Parts: sequence; C-alpha cells; structure tokens
Amino acid sequence: MNQIILRKPDDMHIHLRQGGLLENVLEQTVKQVARAIVMPNTAPAIETVNALTAYRQEINESLKRINSKAGKQYTFEPLMTFKVGPHMTAQTIKELKAAGATAGKIYPQGVTTNSEEGVKDFKALYPIYEAMSNENLVLCIHGEIPSAFCIDREKEFLPIFKQIAKDFPKLKIVLEHLTTSAAVELVEESPKNVAGTLTVHHLLTTLDDIIGGSLRPHLFCKPLPKHSSDKENLRRAAVSGNPKFFLGSDSAPHLVENKECDCGAAGVYSAPVLLPLLIDIFQQENKLDKLESFTSQFGAEFYNLPLNQETMALTQNTWTVPDKMHGIVPFFAGQKLKWKVVES
Ligand code: DOR
Ligand code: ZN
Repeated sequence: MNQIILRKPDDMHIHLRQGGLLENVLEQTVKQVARAIVMPNTAPAIETVNALTAYRQEINESLKRINSKAGKQYTFEPLMTFKVGPHMTAQTIKELKAAGATAGKIYPQGVTTNSEEGVKDFKALYPIYEAMSNENLVLCIHGEIPSAFCIDREKEFLPIFKQIAKDFPKLKIVLEHLTTSAAVELVEESPKNVAGTLTVHHLLTTLDDIIGGSLRPHLFCKPLPKHSSDKENLRRAAVSGNPKFFLGSDSAPHLVENKECDCGAAGVYSAPVLLPLLIDIFQQENKLDKLESFTSQFGAEFYNLPLNQETMALTQNTWTVPDKMHGIVPFFAGQKLKWKVVES
C-alpha cells in the first residue's frame, strides 16, 4: 500500500496567529485540514463580536491570497472561538453565537501564551457556562492549575473539570490536549457531553525528550508531555475508536528567536507534518482503520458539523522536514518522514 486517501480532516484545536505569520501558517494548514477550531489567544485576545469578525475576515483574506499566489483552490473553514472571561454576560454570549462563534475557550490565568488575563475562579463563570449551554456553544478548556507543580498541573485540574461537567450536563465540554493517563480515564468515564482532544506531539514525546538530555526548546509546550506510560495511554485512546477522542493538534508556532532565548515560548509547530505523523502512529499501533474516524469524523460529530466531503491523498514518498519554515522550526525538523501529502 503506497497511497492513502482520507476524508479531509478537521483540526479541533489550532493556533493560526495573526499578520504575516498567519498567512504562512495557514498555507501549511489548508493542505492538511478542511476546518479548524481557531484558538482565541491572539494579542489582544478574541473576546468581542468585532474581534471575532475581524479575525475571521483576516483568515479568509489570507486564504484568498494563498490560493491566488499558488493558483490553487484550497477550501478552509475557520471555526471561530472566543476567550471566556468573567466580564461576559448571557447577552455577550448570545451575540458571539449570532456572529458565528463555535466555541468558547477557558485559559486559567498565566497558564500559557497570552493568558495573563485568564480565569482564576471557575465557579464564578457558572452563569456563562449556563448561557453557553443555552446557545449550544462548546466549552473548550485548557485543563491545568498554573500554581501547581508543573507536571501535576493537569491532574490537579481534573476535579474542577469533573464538577463543571456534572453541573452542566447539556453543555458540550472538551478537555483540550490531554497529557496524562488520569485525563484519559476521566474523559472515558464522563458522560457523552465530554470529549478530549489529542495532539500529535503528545502522542510522540515525553518530558525526557524535552529536558532529559539536552534542552529541546522546539518541543517545549503546555501542558508538558509527561511519562512514557502517559504517552502509551494517550496513544491507546487515539486509536481506540472511542468517539470521545479526536484530533486537536494544538499546533502553536513561535518564531525561532522567541523559542531559543531566555524565557522561551511554549508551543510545537506541528501543522506541516500532521497527517504524515498520524499515519505513522496509527500504523505502528496496527490501527490504520481507526485513523479517519479520529481525524475526520468524531470531532465533527461532537461539534454537530457535517462531515467534510472533500478527500486528501498521501503517498509513501520519503521527504525531509525543513530545518526551518518561515522563521519557525517545525516539529520533526530535519527528520525524514515516510508519508507525504499529495498537493492537489
Ligand atoms: O504550548 C502551548 N502553546 N500551549 C498552549 O496552550 C498555547 C500555545 C500557544 O498559543 O503558543
Ligand atoms: Zn492551544
């Protein structure tokens, strides 16, 4: 078998950034996915109807330029999100939904890139969860307690997550970028309103890869990858065929100078290598038959979206991931990959 044809995937968690960076990053993304849940931690963050509308327009205009430069017809639908904050009211939520928002995202304060203004009191947001539930908006949560010891941050957030899911049984909630066996178990045990996204980098790395030998800043991300036993459980969840687990790459590009410095930024730029790596993982697990549901079905179903009708092809054609792409070091930089996206 040297070709794989897939229903075009959805990436249910991506950082596209803004300005020139956005255009370069988006070009990589549209080759591999047809839709993506676009994270709102821009600077300033997406918190209002105006900001959401302007950001969607910026993405769509970038897409037009990408297509006209390349003479292609990539289609891509950005699924817009807003950052949930205590200042919001039921009316703001209604307006954001009417403006086309798909989901709202919670960043605990200080947890990651541009989250200084994040949430401190999760209970204080109960009226907002209620409003989101009424509007059929999905709540996406970065599940970490920033003040906890770095590798315990996700585990310590789980009781809060469990309580929110219990108190809002009609609200769809996604625990984003799972990194621990405990988080996988919680999602498995939770009712149907709960799902979990999995990134490619957390299926492939452990904390040892980042700090166990030399420091590898381009693998540094939040939440931190954990132990190999956690990685094994994440992989098991990804290939399980359980619809509660689907792809959310958390591809998070940062310019090389913002990674290779004192106080380097967190984030792995996986967009250019997403599908080639996923095929490898599913093949290694002998579960290639479960790939398409993970990338292109379960996420759409959870978000109540029609399945993409477009397909994409990948061939076995060894290539080397560039050391640097538009000022960013991508995941697997300089390494050979077996599968390559066929550009349509
Ligand atoms: O590593 C990360 N980078 N984790 C996040 O949650 C945010 C992201 C970013 O925006 O850079
Ligand atoms: Zn993210």
